[in-house]
Amino acid sequence: MVKVIHYYDYYQYIMNLRVRLNLLITAILLIFFVSMGYTIMKGSKESIQEGVESANRVTMQLLDTVIISSSQNPEWGYTHDVLKRFLEELGHVRSSNIYLYTLQGELLYASPLSKYRINDPPPPKWFETSLAPKEVIDTRTVRFGKLIVKTNPIGAIKESWAKMKHFFLITCVFFVLLNMLVYWMLGFWLRPLEPMVEAITKMGEGDFEARLPDFNLPEFAVIAKNFNRMGDSLQAKVRENQRLALIAQQTADAIVIHDLQSKISFWNASAEKIFGYSPKEILGKSAYVLTTKVHENELRKSFQLIHSGKNIHNVETQRTKKNGEVVDVAISFSPLKDPITHEIIGDICSMRDISEKKIAEESKLKLEENRKFTQLIQSHIEDERRSLARELHDELGQYVSAIKIFASNISNKAKKLSPEIEKNADSVISAANQIYDGMHSIIKQLRPGSLDNLGLAETIKDTVNTWQKQYEHLKIHLLIKGDLNHLNETLNINIYRIIQEAMNNALKHSKAKAININLVLNKKGFLELNFSDDGQGMDLKKVDQTKNFGILGMQERIQSLNGSFELISKKNQGTQILISVPT
Ligand SMILES: Nc1ncnc2c1ncn2[C@@H]1O[C@H](COP(=O)(O)OP(=O)(O)OP(=O)(O)O)[C@@H](O)[C@H]1O
Ligand SMILES: [Mg+2]
Repeated sequence: MVKVIHYYDYYQYIMNLRVRLNLLITAILLIFFVSMGYTIMKGSKESIQEGVESANRVTMQLLDTVIISSSQNPEWGYTHDVLKRFLEELGHVRSSNIYLYTLQGELLYASPLSKYRINDPPPPKWFETSLAPKEVIDTRTVRFGKLIVKTNPIGAIKESWAKMKHFFLITCVFFVLLNMLVYWMLGFWLRPLEPMVEAITKMGEGDFEARLPDFNLPEFAVIAKNFNRMGDSLQAKVRENQRLALIAQQTADAIVIHDLQSKISFWNASAEKIFGYSPKEILGKSAYVLTTKVHENELRKSFQLIHSGKNIHNVETQRTKKNGEVVDVAISFSPLKDPITHEIIGDICSMRDISEKKIAEESKLKLEENRKFTQLIQSHIEDERRSLARELHDELGQYVSAIKIFASNISNKAKKLSPEIEKNADSVISAANQIYDGMHSIIKQLRPGSLDNLGLAETIKDTVNTWQKQYEHLKIHLLIKGDLNHLNETLNINIYRIIQEAMNNALKHSKAKAININLVLNKKGFLELNFSDDGQGMDLKKVDQTKNFGILGMQERIQSLNGSFELISKKNQGTQILISVPT
């Protein structure tokens, strides 16, 4: 379990660290000073003991000498008297208390108190107790008296206290000063920890912009440098992740992540849009929710492949939406690996909705069929027209010619016999001629023979000339650019028919004064027709294509040739037809 450490914990931790280190140093100092004090006191005690004992011994030897001398010189008087006198003269002896008693126990003499450091305050009791040496009592019984000499260390203790007092004072001052110095120094050295803790806490809370300043201490400087570098790379990683997440969220493809049990753990906005499930509804559900029975096996095999480390690219299949509709998708899978262990932990799956593409493909196919069908019809019509023209020419033409010949014969024969018959026969000849001309013009309309012989450009020029002759008041301007001689027959006839229909419309409906026909074969191999008139134009919305077939026919022809058709017209602003066809 991860323990979350808050900033104030760290702050307390630093404080504790400082206090702890300080306490440790204090303890070491204390041990040092105590052991030093102890050693000094022990030495003093030993020296006091020795001093007191030797002083006692010397005193005893001196008094023994007095006792012996007194006994050898009885004229000096009783020993205790001699002793008393001697002691009174002797006065205070250092480190010894001397008492002289009568045999009855009456105190005859007690040595006076020492005058040494008489005004000094007495040393503390503990000091006195700890330095006090073992008491030595020497007793001598003399005639009529008893001499007792006891050790008295107070003078030595006082002397030692006078010296030790300074030591204790210096030690205490030194101890306090040292402690204060250590406390301040620790505070100074540990100061960089504060911003460090702050930065680490911020980073722990997800603020990857937290950085450390430069520190003077080399160790802290290295830590700060590495920490900042870590921050930079973390920030870069986070930005990269955010970018990837944004891409995953905003891409038009459905992005789905599955775990090893095929359960959905990520579902982007496009997935929701395509399949209709919100993340709340689908997260944690099985991937099989999106498949029909028919595709379950395929999906199972896909997962097996992915879990063995393989990729699957753009497989076209079907999935089911929330509303039960089936959607065509192109699906890709990639294994998802743990960044540390590199073990496969699931997969990333992207799905593209290709229903529209499929519909477009189908309609393209239909269009192509229509185009072929129209072409077939057009070519049948052209065949029919050609055979009709031939029939007209061969059959009717023969009959008309025969009529003309018969009528001429009748006219010739009737010249002398009956001028009336001759006149009638001439009328028949003239009618036959008219029929013949009319028939020829129909044949021309049905099948412009020059298309086969002279090519598209010349045929159009020829036709335009004919129109110009018929409609003298109209200015027809024709411009042809590029070599149109090698265009195929289908294209030729279709372009010719379109110009024919456009011309018919302009003549019939436009009341135009001028007509421009531009036919250009451009460098990209497209044949472009720009047919315009300056007539009254039309309201395109009102053109009923269920009753009028001219414009519709033009469109169908262009569609069958895989070209583009555009009709631009406004009331009183003329009409323009723009066509572009690949050759
Ligand atoms: N150049 C033009 N100027 C003005 N109106 C035009 C022009 N071309 C066509 N129209 C209008 O568009 C209508 C449709 O033309 P469309 O060629 O389809 O049929 P139509 O000429 O009336 O009959 P048809 O089927 O014999 O061609 C015409 O009836 C006419 O009103
Ligand atoms: Mg028409």
